[in-house]
Parts: sequence; structure tokens; C-alpha cells
Amino acid sequence: MKNIETDILVIGSGLSGLFFSLQCAKKGVNVVVVTKCLVNETATALAQGGVAAARRKPDSVKSHIEDTLRTGKGLSNKKVVEHIIKRSSQSISELEEIGVNFDKMKNGALELGREGSHSYRRIVHVQDKTGEAIENALIKKINENPNIKIIENGFCIDVDTSNKSGKKEICGAYFYKQKEPKKKKIKLKHTITVKDENIFYCSAACVAIATGGLSALYQYTVNPDISKGDGIAIAYRAGCVLRDLEFLQFHPTALYKGKSPFFLISEAVRGEGAYIVTEKKIPVMRGFKRRDLEARDVVSRRIFELMKYENIYIDFTRKEKNWIKKRFSGIFEECSLWGIDISKELIPIIPAAHYTCGGIKTNTCGETNISGLFAIGEVSSTGLHGANRLASNSLLEGVVISRNAARKALKFLSLRKNRIKSKIKKKFSVYSLDYKKSVFKKIEKRIKEIMWKKVGIVRTFEALQDGLQEINSLEKVLDGYTKSGFNIDVWNLSNSILVSKLIIRSALSRKESRGCHYMEDFPSKSEIARHTTIQKINNKLSFV
Ligand code: SIN
Repeated sequence: MKNIETDILVIGSGLSGLFFSLQCAKKGVNVVVVTKCLVNETATALAQGGVAAARRKPDSVKSHIEDTLRTGKGLSNKKVVEHIIKRSSQSISELEEIGVNFDKMKNGALELGREGSHSYRRIVHVQDKTGEAIENALIKKINENPNIKIIENGFCIDVDTSNKSGKKEICGAYFYKQKEPKKKKIKLKHTITVKDENIFYCSAACVAIATGGLSALYQYTVNPDISKGDGIAIAYRAGCVLRDLEFLQFHPTALYKGKSPFFLISEAVRGEGAYIVTEKKIPVMRGFKRRDLEARDVVSRRIFELMKYENIYIDFTRKEKNWIKKRFSGIFEECSLWGIDISKELIPIIPAAHYTCGGIKTNTCGETNISGLFAIGEVSSTGLHGANRLASNSLLEGVVISRNAARKALKFLSLRKNRIKSKIKKKFSVYSLDYKKSVFKKIEKRIKEIMWKKVGIVRTFEALQDGLQEINSLEKVLDGYTKSGFNIDVWNLSNSILVSKLIIRSALSRKESRGCHYMEDFPSKSEIARHTTIQKINNKLSFV
């Protein structure tokens, strides 16, 4: 098995993984980034909205903090919220420094968009392609730094830990190099070559899990198909504490055309006056305090209920075509491909799984409970989002926490430097299967249906129990295969099964409705807000 040695290993190549890598490599340490697909195939690259930051009066940092806390429904940590939001303007400058060219007004000031649950216009953006602009700028910078080496199509099997006087410490990770698909690739300057369909090991003093969320476990999602919670599965097996996995945010407005993953119709469109309507153009959010800019869980539930009887749309026809084409070029182009001129016609929409509010529990430096193991970005639970994420707070969180994590990782590295060479402890025998023809494709489809129907926008205790039972029986089908060695499709699937179970077990333990977790049989919020915190102890899921 090939053994690659580095100082810092990063799993994932979205904003958090790449920003963290840059901060570390700037200080002269070696970083290896391993990413499941191509470097730019990330949820970051699909992010439309932008980065939230209070930039102009009457808006203020205080108001941004209040909006975040209100949306988090009692489960955001005030200190964490303050820490992150206070650094929002600084984060915008740091993104500008790496080359992100945010949209500006004629006077040179940043143009600000508006999204749901925000009291003011405060979304700094690059048209409706903010994530793509950030991802591209980061890749350009990464290419300029020979200290960072990238391995694409590297699937992380597990992280490797050792036990030093009763304390778990990270020492590396095992990967499987997937076959290179024939896709248009971004030219990377500094890479490490690994043979296709081989297992490799990467030893490192620090490891950062930056694998994104788990929304692609759902039948309808706007996330790339790779977002199935692999990082959560890896962290759980390693013994990390996980928090609030039941809070899955559904975005109310995915374009209801074609197959999932659907294209997103950014909330920023509603921030510019579009509204949600029936086919007869009757606005559906009229009776609500913030109307079309209510928190996402409220809007999603409203649409979900109405869609039992009729189709629902976004009406953006009040805006002038050229203005739309400039401000929302991505949305305009995508809808045109489906034959919809959004300046004249309604856009069909459906709510879809979008963002994992919970995740691997960390502090504001991205540190997990395992020494040297960091979790950054959507895979983590820092305490910012609570029971529901305020729109466009996540790219911001990515910048702030990755920067803090890099500082910590460098410090940690300097203390561990002379002990990082770890030995390969495990062996894997790789076997192949004809995946498409096998039963696994059907299991994958069924998991998505279960998650959508039984662990979706509106939940009941009974449906959750049914869902869990069915996932357990699907797991049994896999049993024989998991014991026979390593197969990438089986591993992928068992990760999906494990993560689905963790979500459902967490959801079953929350007998109330709060934020993104809505239970029809427990419609109100408990007086006391508590987290759901789980960990694998003695091979069993324990609530800790
Ligand atoms: C959107 O553009 O509507 C998504 C922004 C976000 O989820 O933060």
C-alpha cells in the first residue's frame, strides 16, 4: 500500500478545506488535499447566495447576531455566534485578497442582496454564482503554492487514530483511488499520482475533515450527489462526538425540472421581490410576518402542504429581463434551458434537502474530541446554526473557523513534528462488483425515498420508527458484502446506511418541533432547548 507522508491532511476541497490548506501552507508546512471527485465538484461551487455581513447602517453586527440567534431557535451558542459574526467584514476582505471579485455598485461599495430571516440587505455576492467564484479563486491560489498537493477521486475509507496514554490521537487516513472519470478537469499544478483502484494511506500529524453535508441522502436535493455524509460516518467510527443531526435544512425553492439533484433558485430572488405563488398567481406567503422571506423551515412547510394539492411557482415577472440576466445570470440561463423565460413565465419549484445544520461537534477552532483531528465547514457543528441556519452564514463560518483551525493545527504540528511517521496498520483486499446490475442500486434509491418520506420536512414519531426499521433491514442485506473485503460501492452504501440511522435516532430522541425538525405529533417547542449529542461507545450509539 502506498504511504504518503505529509504534515497536514485535508479531506475535501470546498471552501473550508481549501481555505484551511492555504492558511497552513503559507507558513511553509506540507499539505495534502484528497477529494472524493474532481477538485471543483463541491457544494461550495454550487452556492448561489453569498456571504452574510452587515456593511451599512441601519444594519449592524448586533442585528446580524440577533437574526442568527432567532433563526437558530435557542440552540445556537451565543458566544460562537458573536465570534463568527464579528469577523464577517474581515472575512469578506480575506476573500477579496485571494481574488474574489464581489459585485459592487457604481460608487464602489459592495452590492448587498437580501435573503430569508435577515432583517436587512447584507448578502455580499458575485451575481448568483458566489460559490463558484470563491472555489475558482481558491483553486488558483492553491495552484500557486507547491506546498499543497492534490489527489482527486480519492475516497476516504477511514481516519486512523492511535492511543497515547488513554487519549486518542490522529495519525492519518486510508483512501481508495477511484477510476478517473472522463470529465473536463481543472488543470492542477501540484498533484500526487496514485494508481487507480488502489488503496493508499496518508500519514499526517493533523487531519481536517471538510467533506460537506449529507443532503444527497434525500430523494430531492440541491446538493451534489457526493454529499452523503461520508465525513460524519468516518468521524462516528473514529469516536467523535456528533451533534444535532436531525436538523436538516430544506431549501424551499429548487427548480422542479429534470431529476434530483435539482438546480437551486436562490432565496436572493425573493430578496429582490419575487414571490411564491400558485398556478393562478395567488401569493402563498401573505399571512406570514416576513412573507416570502420567512425562515426556510416555515416556507418549506407551507409549500410542502400546498403541493399535496397543486403545483407551486416563483413569480419573478415584475422584474425587467436585462436586469434579471445581469443579477441572476445562472438562474436565467438554467431556466432558459428548460424553456422558461423567467421575466415572463412562472418558475416551477419544490422544496429540497439543502444544508446539514448539525455535524461533528467542534469548538471555534474546528477541534474535535480527538487530538489532531479537525472538522471544518458543513460537516461540523460549531454552535453557529443551532436548529436552523440563517441563509449565507455558512460560507462565512467556513472562512472564520478554517482560519482559526489553521492557527491551531500549526501550533499542534510544531509540538508533534518529530512523531508523525505512523505505520500502516490495516490491510484491505479490494474486490469488484457489477454495481449497476446489483441490488445495491435499489438499496441506494430506497434509502433516499425513506429519508424523504419518513425523515423529511414534516415528521411523525411513527414514520421515523418505520424508517429506522427499514434502514435496519437494508443494512442486513449488506452484511455479507461488508465482511468480504473492500468494495467502494458497498462502502459508500454502508456509510449512507450508517448516517441515515444516526439522523433517525437523533430525530426520534427529539420529541418537539424546533427549527428544521418539525414533528406533527409534537408541534410545539419544549421550554428547554437541548442538543442531541451522540457518540459511538463500546461499539454502540450512545447519547452523551
Ligand atoms: C440561496 O442562495 O438561496 C442559498 C443560500 C444559502 O443557503 O446560504
